[in-house]
Order: sequence, then structure tokens, then C-alpha cells
Amino acid sequence: MQILSFERVSLQYPQGIEALKEVSFELKKGELFTLVGPNGSGKTTLLKLIYMELFPTRGTVRVKGFSSSKIRSRDIPCLRRRLGIVPQATELLEERDVFENVALAMRAVGGKGIRRRVWEVLSQTGLSSRARSSPHQLSGGEAKRVAIARALVNQPFLLLADEPTGGIDQERAEGILSLLKRINRQGTAILLATQDERVGQSLAGGILRIAQGRLI
Ligand SMILES: Nc1ncnc2c1ncn2[C@@H]1O[C@H](COP(=O)(O)OP(=O)(O)O)[C@@H](O)[C@H]1O
Ligand SMILES: [Mg+2]
Repeated sequence: MQILSFERVSLQYPQGIEALKEVSFELKKGELFTLVGPNGSGKTTLLKLIYMELFPTRGTVRVKGFSSSKIRSRDIPCLRRRLGIVPQATELLEERDVFENVALAMRAVGGKGIRRRVWEVLSQTGLSSRARSSPHQLSGGEAKRVAIARALVNQPFLLLADEPTGGIDQERAEGILSLLKRINRQGTAILLATQDERVGQSLAGGILRIAQGRLI
């Protein structure tokens, strides 16, 4: 079953460059794909089109039942609640501890059993002992794992991760990649953007290569 498709999608920033050119691909339920390309090639732009922070200049993005050409702005939060988004900048709330950073994402949606579910994802991401730490006490790798826990707490069908190993040492980066592999084996589809060719090889899923806004 198809959960995501890009059909000849181009995106031009206002008064800016054409950051994506005629991009087409699709992702099926439970698949894992790595989007590999150098800095400035259009990876973050492509991910933003999926959670509809940006809309195509031409072409259509479809995510589950949502289409970029038909979606109403009031339905966009509904789409985002069903996606897990790990942004390029981790963006944790400094005045809240790890537990609360993850719990807030769930409170925003209003699910039941929040405490139990938060402990479950903290354990899954290896953060149980860090639940009461504040973000400034965490290593870069731990902060990324909090961002991953936060993205997972509402059980998304698709996890989008923008350079989750960027700026992290090799050993911790491998820890994050094995965590993502495990999450994928448990059924969550993943699209991960990276500059690092080795990440794609290590994840051993599909690879999409991007250069200057085009899939190659
Ligand atoms: N808000 C913006 N306005 C204008 N140009 C942008 C904006 N964001 C990104 N760009 C340009 O779009 C291209 C792709 O950027 P981006 O998607 O961030 O690439 P990547 O994530 O692969 O580094 C770059 O040339 C970048 O300078
Ligand atoms: Mg980027």
C-alpha cells in the first residue's frame, strides 16, 4: 500500500531558486528509504513538502489520504499528528525535562495513557535514565534520541528524520541508526535525509539520491 507519492514535484522559493525539479517517487507502507545528497541539494525542502510546510509550485504530493493540491489548511495539523518529524535542528524545550518534552507532543494530540506511553518510548530509545534531565545536560546523541522519542510517541505511520546523525560522533551515530532500523522493523516507515553516503549503506533500505534538486 502506497503511503507517500511525489508526482513531478517542483518547488521554487519566492524570489529564490528552484530547489526541487520534477521529483517523482513513492514509498510503501513500512518501507525505509535514505535520501542522500550534498548540502543545499534540496533534502530539507523535500521533507517540508511531506508535512506540508511547503507546497509544490508544480506537481502533487500525496501522503496517505491527503493531497497537496486539495488539502484545507485546517486539515494540516491532522496530517502532522500522524507523521513523526525529527527536524534538522532538534528544538527541545529547554525549561522542560526529557519526559515532559516527549509528553507534550502527546498532550497536544490528547491521547490516553500518556505516562505509560512516554515511559515506553523512553525505554525504546534508551533514555529511561535521562527522563528527568534537562535538555542542556544531554549529549548531542541523546538530544537526537529525545527528538526521535518525541516523534514516535503518537505512533506515526511515517517517520521523517532530517540529518539525525549530523554533528554526532561515529559511535553514537551508529547507535541512532540501529535504533531507527529497529523502529522500522517494528513497522514504521522511515524517510531519512543525510549528506553521508555511509548512512544509506548502513540502513540497508532503499536509496534516493538527490543533486541540485533532482533525483538522480
Ligand atoms: N526559505 C528559503 N528561501 C529561499 N531559498 C531557500 C530556502 N530554504 C532553502 N533554500 C535553498 O534551497 C536549496 C535547497 O535547500 P535545502 O532543502 O535546505 O537543502 P539541504 O537540506 O539538502 O541542505 C538551497 O539552495 C537553499 O539555499
Ligand atoms: Mg537540510
